[in-house]
Amino acid sequence: MPLTIRTTKTTSGKTRPAPDQLGFGKYFSDHIFLADWEGEDGWKNARIEPYGSIALDPAASVLHYGQAMFEGSKAFRQADGSVALFRVDAHAKRMQRGASRLCMPALEVEDFVAAMRAFVAVEEGWVPSAPNTSLYLRPTIVATEAFLGVRPSNRYLFFTIGSPVGSYYGGDTLKPVRIWVERDYVRAARGGLGATKAGANYAASLYAAVKAKKAGFDQVLWLDAKEHAFVEEVGTMNLFVVIDGTLVTPSLSDSILAGVTRDSILTIAKEWGIKTEERAIGAAEILDARKRGKLEEVFGSGTAAVVSPVSELAFGDDRVVINDGKPGALSNRFYDEICGIQRGSKPDRHGWLTRI
Ligand code: COI
Repeated sequence: MPLTIRTTKTTSGKTRPAPDQLGFGKYFSDHIFLADWEGEDGWKNARIEPYGSIALDPAASVLHYGQAMFEGSKAFRQADGSVALFRVDAHAKRMQRGASRLCMPALEVEDFVAAMRAFVAVEEGWVPSAPNTSLYLRPTIVATEAFLGVRPSNRYLFFTIGSPVGSYYGGDTLKPVRIWVERDYVRAARGGLGATKAGANYAASLYAAVKAKKAGFDQVLWLDAKEHAFVEEVGTMNLFVVIDGTLVTPSLSDSILAGVTRDSILTIAKEWGIKTEERAIGAAEILDARKRGKLEEVFGSGTAAVVSPVSELAFGDDRVVINDGKPGALSNRFYDEICGIQRGSKPDRHGWLTRI
C-alpha cells in the first residue's frame, strides 16, 4: 500500500538566502520529511513537518555502529517556472541497493518518488532559479533502535532535508581542481561498502582529504585498496579520463559508487558517438598517456558538482598538468548538456525529469 503522507506546514518560514550566497549545503529549507520503520509494520507515519532537530536515544545504534546511509539528488527550476526532479528513480534504486548491503530497509521506489515529490511541492518556493542553482535533497536512513548489541537495528528513521545550493566549488564557471594521488590511505576495499552511500565511506575519506588540503590540493584520487595501482574515484566523485579521444572510466565494482551522473555521462557520450570504455585504469597508464601526449582530460562526476575538471594530478613529486590546467572540451560539453537537460533548456530524451 502506498505511503500516506501527513503535512504540517511551518507558520514561521525562514528568510531565503540570496542566490550568490548559496554555496553548497549551508542553508536548509523550511520542512523535513520523516517516516519510521519498525519490524513487521514496515514504513509508517510518513509526515512533512517544520524543519527541526531529531530526538534520538543515546543508545541508538546509528550513534555507535554507524548504520546510516544517504542519497543526494536535486530539484531544478524550469524555464517555464515549474520544478522537476532529475533521475529521482535512479536515486531510489541506488538507495535500495545500498540499504540492502547495510542490512537496512529502504522505501519502495514509488514511495521514495512520492516522498520527494510531496516534499518538493511543499518546499517549491525554496527551489532557486538563478543559473547553476537547485534544491539539493538529502534523503537519509539511520538506525534508531536503542540497543548496544552488534546486529542490524529493528527500528529506522528515513528523513529528507532540502538545501538550496549554487555550484559546488562556487562561481559560474567550472573550476578545475588540483588532486593528490593517495598511495597510503584507501577509501574502500573490494568486498566493503564503497558502492554504497554509507556515511562510513565519507568518514573513511576525511583523513587523506585533510592531509591533501594541508599540502595545497583540493582532493585526493583514490587507488584500489589491494595493489594501490588502479584509479577508483576522485574525492567524492566518479572518475573519467580522456585518453586519445576515448572516454574511460573505472568499471563498477563493490568499491566504486554507481554514480547517477556517471551513468548520464556514459549515456550521452554514446549518443554523441564518443568511444567509451568501462574498465580498470592503472595509474601507470595515466602516466604513460601523459608521456605519449595522449592524456587529454581528467574529470570527476557527481550530483553535487555535476562535472569537476582536474587540472593537475600529483603522483608524489611528479606533477601531471592536464590540458594546460584548463577545463577540457568534453568536460565543458557534458556539464552544459546535463545542466541543460536538468533545467529544461535541452531535450530530455531519456525521460530523466519528473515534474512536481
Ligand atoms: C556528490 O557528488 O553528489 C556527492 O556525493 C558529494 C556529496 C557527498 C556532497
